[in-house]
Order: sequence, then structure tokens, then C-alpha cells
Amino acid sequence: MSDLRPLVIGEKIAELPIIQGGMGVGVSLGRLAGAVAKEGGVGIISTAQIGFYRDDFLGDVKGSNLRAIKEQIELAKNISGGKGLVGVNVMVALDDYKDHVRTAAESGADVVICGAGLPLDLPGLVAGTDAKIAPIVSSVRAARIIFKKWKTGYDRLPDFVVIEGPKAGGHLGFKLEELEEYCCMTGTCSTAEEAEIRNYDDEIKAIIEFVNESAAETGTNIPVVVAGGIFDHEDICHAMELGASGVQIASRFVATHECDASEAYKQAYLSAKEEDLRIIKSPVGMPGRAINNAFLEGLAEGSYKVTRCLKCLAKCNPAQIPYCITERLIMAVKGDVDNGLVFSGANSGRIEKIVSVHELMAELAGR
Ligand SMILES: Cc1cc2nc3c(=O)[nH]c(=O)nc-3n(C[C@H](O)[C@H](O)[C@H](O)COP(=O)(O)O)c2cc1C
Repeated sequence: MSDLRPLVIGEKIAELPIIQGGMGVGVSLGRLAGAVAKEGGVGIISTAQIGFYRDDFLGDVKGSNLRAIKEQIELAKNISGGKGLVGVNVMVALDDYKDHVRTAAESGADVVICGAGLPLDLPGLVAGTDAKIAPIVSSVRAARIIFKKWKTGYDRLPDFVVIEGPKAGGHLGFKLEELEEYCCMTGTCSTAEEAEIRNYDDEIKAIIEFVNESAAETGTNIPVVVAGGIFDHEDICHAMELGASGVQIASRFVATHECDASEAYKQAYLSAKEEDLRIIKSPVGMPGRAINNAFLEGLAEGSYKVTRCLKCLAKCNPAQIPYCITERLIMAVKGDVDNGLVFSGANSGRIEKIVSVHELMAELAGR
């Protein structure tokens, strides 16, 4: 038995309030998401360049991605055996963001979570489906903008909200100065000068208060899920004490047998220590957190020429970017962890071994 309460999103219920965060490119596909759902959690497939494993990818990037979304949702649902929930993470910054959302919702995704930008038009994209939708926000300001736009434009509010803090992996919704204030430039946020450090818990509480007030005005319940650096059961309980109804965890799921990344990628996580984590600038236009390697060291010296453009991002000029993010993420997930980009959360240095999703979920649930 776990002391955690189920995550209730309207009529959709996950027995455990644990969402496995979407990880692109190809780190969280149907195998991982299905395994998490099978344990009663919420398994999330990242749609970012999801077709990269298919033979038709380079000839038809958009079509291949859309076919892969359907394929991976089906796979995850089959693995889950009807337990838990299966959903997708779609980056707003993607050129084909709208098509990814529509295809996922029409393919039976239980939930659609959108980050890396403000998903101002998300309600319209899932109209006619029963997919539950959530924006990822890192500030009260972003939450206010989205709520206002959805209320006036679509007369609805989010079904749930994901708050992503400065210790998360992948792209971060913060300016570099803010990450410094939260002391998240390297791995740790708990230093001797902690008292001097801006505490992200205050922002979490403010966002939850805003969401609860908005929900009360419309007579609804909007669960809030907290993400970024959550490592164990104690961290989950802490998030619940702040008022969250669930958590989203990503990095810990990389070190599972079921994670869709290569063995080399998982080993890079096991080898990484806190001091190996770096904040980088991404062509997406946001900072990101990744494990240091030859690629990042080379980047400090200059740029990597972009030789092929897959037109993955809505706003990207191949002539002006220091590297192609799609190319580097695909290299990494396939196993070239020296030359690829290995995204990671701030606490991955604490991961010691690869376990099954069943074992990890039991540990996180406090069983
Ligand atoms: C390898 C990796 C890839 C990620 N890719 C995405 C992504 O494509 N889209 C997104 O919204 N978040 C992405 N994230 C963020 C996670 O979904 C999650 O919210 C965050 O990492 C939680 O922090 P944690 O890793 O410390 O648990 C990624 C994180 C990691 C570690």
C-alpha cells in the first residue's frame, strides 16, 4: 500500500499520482510510457522528432512523426493492459506542434502536456476528443496568461497544470539569471548558503494558490503536478505538502530497463556526478540542462556546422545556430553520448543503478 492518493483528472484516474515526464528525442517512447502506466502511473511519450527510428523519417519527417505518434500510443496502451494513463508531451516550439497535438488526441492519448512555449491555442486543437490537457508553467505569470487566454478564447481552463522548476532536465522555462538566483547553474541547489538562495517552493505555492482560486471561481478542480529534481518518496511527500496533487519525474526513469534510450545513454546517467551537469543555450531559445561531454566542451570553443535541416522548430535559422539540436539529441539517444546532447535533471548524479519500472514505481510510492 502507498500513502499517496490517486491523481484524478476529471473522469481519468491514475492510481499513483506519478507522471513520468516526456523526454525527447526518443528517450520516452511507448515502451517506457506503457510500463509506467501498467504500474498505475501516467506514462508520457515525447513527440519531439519521434519518427527518428522509422525508415521513412528522412524522406518525410512530418508524416513519419505523425505515424510514430499513433504507433507509440498504441504500443504503450497495449503494454499498460488498460491500467494507468498514457499521454504525450508536445513542445510548443515544434514546427508541427498543432499536428502532433491533434494526432495524439485522435489516437487516444489520455493526456496532452505542452511545454517549451505557451500553448495558447491548445484547447482548440483537442476539440472533439476526450484528451485532458495541461500546460507546463514555471511562473505565476505564465499561468495567468494561459488561464486568461483559454477562458476568453475557449471558455475552459486546463484540466491540470504541470509546474516545472529550475532543477528539471531538458529545456528550462527560466532566464540564466533566474537559474543563478535559484542556485541551479550546476547540479545542486542545497549549498551552505541556502538561506541566501531564492526558494522555488514559494513560486510553487503561489502558482497553486492561483490555480485553486481560478478553479473555485468556475466550480472545478484543477490538479497541480510539480516537476524538477524530484528524486524519492520524501520529495513527493514534500510536493504534496506544498499543495500538489501529483508529481512529474523524468530523470529517474532514464535509469530503468524499459527506458527507450540506448544502454550507453543510461550508462552516461550512471557515470554522471553533480559536477558534470551544465546549463547550455539551446537553439529552441531557452536554456537547458545536460551532462557535460566532448560535444559541450567543443561548443564552448565555437559552433558546429549544421549540414542538414529537418525544419523541426518553428523559429530556427540553421545559419545562425551553434548546432542542430535534433541531430545531437538523436545521436545521444542512439548511443553516441560523447558527441550527442544528453539532457538531464539536476539530481541525476544521485542515480546509482538501473532498475525496472516496477521497482522504481514501488520505491517512489513508498511501498
Ligand atoms: C532527457 C530528458 C529529455 C526531456 N525532454 C523533454 C521534452 O521533450 N519536452 C518537455 O516538455 N520536457 C522534457 N524534459 C523535462 C521532463 O519532462 C521533466 O519535466 C523534468 O525533467 C523533471 O525533472 P527531473 O528530470 O529532475 O525529474 C526532458 C527531461 C529529460 C531529463
